[in-house]
Amino acid sequence: KDGLNTTLIGNNIFYFAELESTNSFAKEMAKEAEEGTVVIAESQKKGRGRLGRNWQSPKGGVNLSVILKPNIPLDHAARLTLMTGLAAANTIRSLGLDARIKWPNDVLIKDKKVCGILTEVDAEMEQVDYIIIGIGINANVNVDDFPPGIRENATSLQKELGTEVNRVEFVQKLLYEIEQQYIKFKTQEFSAILSEWINLSDTIGKNVTIMTPSKMVEGKAIGITDTGAISVRTKDGKRVNLIAGRCVYTRT
Ligand code: BTN
Repeated sequence: KDGLNTTLIGNNIFYFAELESTNSFAKEMAKEAEEGTVVIAESQKKGRGRLGRNWQSPKGGVNLSVILKPNIPLDHAARLTLMTGLAAANTIRSLGLDARIKWPNDVLIKDKKVCGILTEVDAEMEQVDYIIIGIGINANVNVDDFPPGIRENATSLQKELGTEVNRVEFVQKLLYEIEQQYIKFKTQEFSAILSEWINLSDTIGKNVTIMTPSKMVEGKAIGITDTGAISVRTKDGKRVNLIAGRCVYTRT
């Protein structure tokens, strides 16, 4: 906590050498927890990723969750997902790396994933009760140890920098950046965050296929809506907005 320059985020920090999942732990105490509570683990035994995948969380990485309690309707929750991706990308960029964001919230360096974000929301009557933002960063990890199928598309800060990062300083910067973006989120129009996000976007302008449990949409990513959905222009000229899903880049 020494050197942490925040007022809201990180007043309470739960630190573990090892945990099943910081998101799962945060979820269990979220109702009672103060806004800004942070759960952090050196390694996770059951790190969870989006869409039911798992997240490789060996020692040397950064695995943390932040509990937020914004007073917003449920259909604005995706904005916080984008906000978190932006905060993570900015923090990585401050190390001098060219981090870009793949919708909805993978952070890539030279087309390889260095950071993933899992947001989990609990709502009551269409109003957000709490939201857990879980951030996993391949900091000082060897992605060559990851299973095949994952390692080919992954990189780490250490690999890109050619040297280890100071993870304590990195987490301090990250939490500060999240707080700054969260203040912006609460006090300004969402377009302030969105325009910054678009500047770092790796996805806008590309041909994509977005897969959701109910449909698959192929076309060109042309923008992000005010609620955080991706807008895709399909071949027949229709514009389709998707609030969540798996995004893969397609050729043609
Ligand atoms: C993804 O890209 O699929 C999201 C990965 C999110 C991983 C982080 S690590 C900290 C937090 N706790 C978890 O179990 N998952 C998230």
